[in-house]
Amino acid sequence: MAATESGQPHDAKRSNRGISRWLVLVAAVVMLAGLLFGYDQGVISGALRGIESTFRVSTLVIEIVTSWVTLGALVGALGGGTMTDRFGRRRTVLAAAVLFVLGAAIESAAPSTWVLVVGRLVAGVGVGVASVAAPLYAAEMAPARLRGRFVSLYQLMITFGIFVAYLVDQLLSVASGSWWRLMLGLSVVPGLLLLVAMLPLPDSPVWYLKTGQRGKAQSALRRVQPDADHQRDIASIEASLQGPQPSWGEVFARRWRAPLVLGLGLAVLQQFTGINGVIYYADTIFEAAGFDTPRSQTAATTWSIGAVNVLFTFVAVGYVDRFGRRPLLLAGLVGMGVSLLVISVCFLRLEHVAVHGASPGNAPSAAGVVTLVAMMVFIASFAFSLGPVVWTVINEIYPSTIRGLGVSAATAANWAAAWLVTQFFLSLTDWIGESGTFAVFAGMCVVSFGFVWKLLPETKGRTLGEIQQMWVDRAGSGRPS
Ligand code: BGC
Repeated sequence: MAATESGQPHDAKRSNRGISRWLVLVAAVVMLAGLLFGYDQGVISGALRGIESTFRVSTLVIEIVTSWVTLGALVGALGGGTMTDRFGRRRTVLAAAVLFVLGAAIESAAPSTWVLVVGRLVAGVGVGVASVAAPLYAAEMAPARLRGRFVSLYQLMITFGIFVAYLVDQLLSVASGSWWRLMLGLSVVPGLLLLVAMLPLPDSPVWYLKTGQRGKAQSALRRVQPDADHQRDIASIEASLQGPQPSWGEVFARRWRAPLVLGLGLAVLQQFTGINGVIYYADTIFEAAGFDTPRSQTAATTWSIGAVNVLFTFVAVGYVDRFGRRPLLLAGLVGMGVSLLVISVCFLRLEHVAVHGASPGNAPSAAGVVTLVAMMVFIASFAFSLGPVVWTVINEIYPSTIRGLGVSAATAANWAAAWLVTQFFLSLTDWIGESGTFAVFAGMCVVSFGFVWKLLPETKGRTLGEIQQMWVDRAGSGRPS
């Protein structure tokens, strides 16, 4: 028994069975989608200098070039849910890859800033659509015993994409002229690979059954999970599909309030605990710690933030299906909260030094070194918890009938929250100082801890059908869920 997503209980004895080559391809799809997300997020900071010198643009245009990818991704994530329901998971991923390749090609060949902005927007929509469709597809294709690991691969590749982008930024930062075109254009490669990986794969059995294509659902199951009890899986998926057709009204229906609040809450808290503020602030903190050239700051950011982020995501990939979602999240939030408090206190000290005229740039000050270590602890704690586990939970908690729309709402909330944090981070530091800002993030970790502790049920090893049934049982028993 291979315990597919649908209806079979977890069978520990058989959990070491090899993975079919089709499943490997499913993993490749979700990994390439993550790579697109991460690379796109990381590469722009290094490309900006070249863009500025090619087009001689204003700050406003630079801000638009930077942030419209997120805006595009927000739109893409919102539309992605309807697309996955109407056209299927597979075709939606293919469309996302085409959009992405197109956007990246327009960006790198752009003759003017406005064409560049259009390219950024198109690529952003592609990233947004992929960020809904690919992890959802992986969650529906993976056996229950491996689902957390499969979706965590998505986060692993987001972090790897950010890391590669840092490296490319570093390598090409010394070059002048039009290198930024290559930096942006390079992302055509994972986009094309995503197309190639997705083409031979079938859609998910859930979508086939949703659209009345029983034969295709059976053959998809046979291919991806040759050892599963297919009849039982099909029956279980069909049972989970009983009920109203997907609609936004159904997503917000009272009986699904618990998974809705959980998904939206986790998506927003993942951002409000400050990850992108910290990633953004890394260079400044390294400056305060005594790295006095921009080059050494970038190198420090690449290795102690970028590489630590990748390394610790492996912990989640390895343990999310063994330890479970709750322990990883709770432990990670403690690490994040404590390290943010330490950063906050150190900043009080650094601000004091700055105000009193000492130069923190010549040698690493004690506060600077402690800040550096605390930053690494923060990134490591995020990387094995909130980073991957939030995406895992978002993609498994919604009932089959509304999964596409539910995932899309949560993903869009995540993009909106990411945009808010990056947009207002600087204003917040101007207003309450760096120390105050990090203290606010630490406070959000406490809120998140309470949220997870109270509202998140453990979903490790449960099939998607079992998770759906759990919500129905809870609503029926009147338990607060
Ligand atoms: C978040 C991104 C973040 C990245 C860092 C992802 O899970 O959604 O906003 O930049 O993790 O690794």
